[in-house]
Amino acid sequence: MVRIAILGLGNRGRRYAYQLKRCPNAEITAVCEKKPEHLEGARLYLDLPPQNAFLSDAEFFSRGKLADAIVIATQDRDHYGHAVAALNAGYHVLLEKPVSPALSECEEIAALARKKNLAVVVCHVLRYSPFYNEIKRTIDSGAIGDIVSVNDTENVGYWHFSHSYVRGNWRREDETGPSILAKCCHDLDIIYYFTGQKCAEVFSSGSRKLFLPRNMPDGAADYCLAPCPRAKTCPYDVKKIYLAPTLHTLPRMGAHIRLITGLAKPKPKDLKEALKTSPYGRCVYKCDNDVMENQNVALRLENGINANLTMTAFSRGCFRRLHISGTKGEIIGIDGKSKFKINVFGGASKTVRVRWGGFSGHFGGDRMLIRDFVEFLETGKVTERLSLIDTTLESHRAAFAAEESRKTGKAVSL
Ligand SMILES: NC(=O)c1ccc[n+]([C@@H]2O[C@H](COP(=O)([O-])OP(=O)(O)OC[C@H]3O[C@@H](n4cnc5c(N)ncnc54)[C@H](O)[C@@H]3O)[C@@H](O)[C@H]2O)c1
Repeated sequence: MVRIAILGLGNRGRRYAYQLKRCPNAEITAVCEKKPEHLEGARLYLDLPPQNAFLSDAEFFSRGKLADAIVIATQDRDHYGHAVAALNAGYHVLLEKPVSPALSECEEIAALARKKNLAVVVCHVLRYSPFYNEIKRTIDSGAIGDIVSVNDTENVGYWHFSHSYVRGNWRREDETGPSILAKCCHDLDIIYYFTGQKCAEVFSSGSRKLFLPRNMPDGAADYCLAPCPRAKTCPYDVKKIYLAPTLHTLPRMGAHIRLITGLAKPKPKDLKEALKTSPYGRCVYKCDNDVMENQNVALRLENGINANLTMTAFSRGCFRRLHISGTKGEIIGIDGKSKFKINVFGGASKTVRVRWGGFSGHFGGDRMLIRDFVEFLETGKVTERLSLIDTTLESHRAAFAAEESRKTGKAVSL
């Protein structure tokens, strides 16, 4: 039986608690969360004694090793301190992405893990979902020959972008890092995973076009529920996004409501009340956001493969569209659809259907990540998709280089 602690029981930490509870060979032995109500909810859910539930990270780490491994699901800028403390305490680590918004800190964590002979696995969850797994298997089978190019469009979704990158936690580069790292380290990792080739050179450009004060409709209120005279025609009105969820927004509502209200078990009236004053209730044209809304990254990989990544806020749904061209054929697919197409040049076209991984949990990626991590702890088995820190550094280096290129207007060699 593998013993695991969790640090940070917000949106991500709770999901891992849920998945770990379902793992027959894992046991959660301690939790740490600075919000008392969230901590107590998790403690009761996991049936832990009060002495194994900590409100303070300092107190948690002062108690010595309470598990074999720790899940770190705190915010981006806390990862470094928490990962260093965990490695020094002797824990293997499952670390949320991005590793850190500073490349030097990412490298320090990797070096410390090597020195301590401990594993740091990073939550690049896409690798573990049936859709990406099956594409990887298809590529490795040689069905499309050698890869020539990869085109990936990360459609963040207008409502999701407004939630996380305009009103929410990832809106400011100085607080959490650039959006190409926060959102697209997954995509850069998938490009590396599919091709096995490191990035040699990168060029990137980006823009902010909409979520700016100059686009504010005349007379718009500071908060949508003020009320705002422009609410009726505004797609970002909180009534549309949070109080009347659509098929697209519904799967994330549970996490959104907890985040906005700050309550562990919020009721619908709590959400409405919170939106009157919460940062999530603000007019999208009057926020203090500065991360890119749209960014293109052109990568030249080491063996000459070209890869293109586009991240855009402006789509209705949240999905990634992939087109992988090989010397003998191509793969075309959308991750939310649980299927992709293989066209073999001069041969057959085939639609490959993959298991539906569910609305939330990254199409089954969260569940399989936990399984691989637990199996690794139990047996030492390193599956090909297990994103250990040294592998992860490739996606992060590419993201930092893309950001440098966007800012300088010049291509960056790695
Ligand atoms: N893998 C993915 O696809 C994915 C998706 C979303 C978010 N993330 C990443 O996961 C991480 C967590 O994101 P989230 O949405 O769960 O955030 P969140 O704010 O919902 O959760 C973080 C939790 O950590 C707690 N916390 C912070 N500092 C603490 C401390 N010192 N001691 C104890 N508890 C502390 C907070 O109170 C909060 O409950 C972030 O780094 C984020 O970028 C990854």
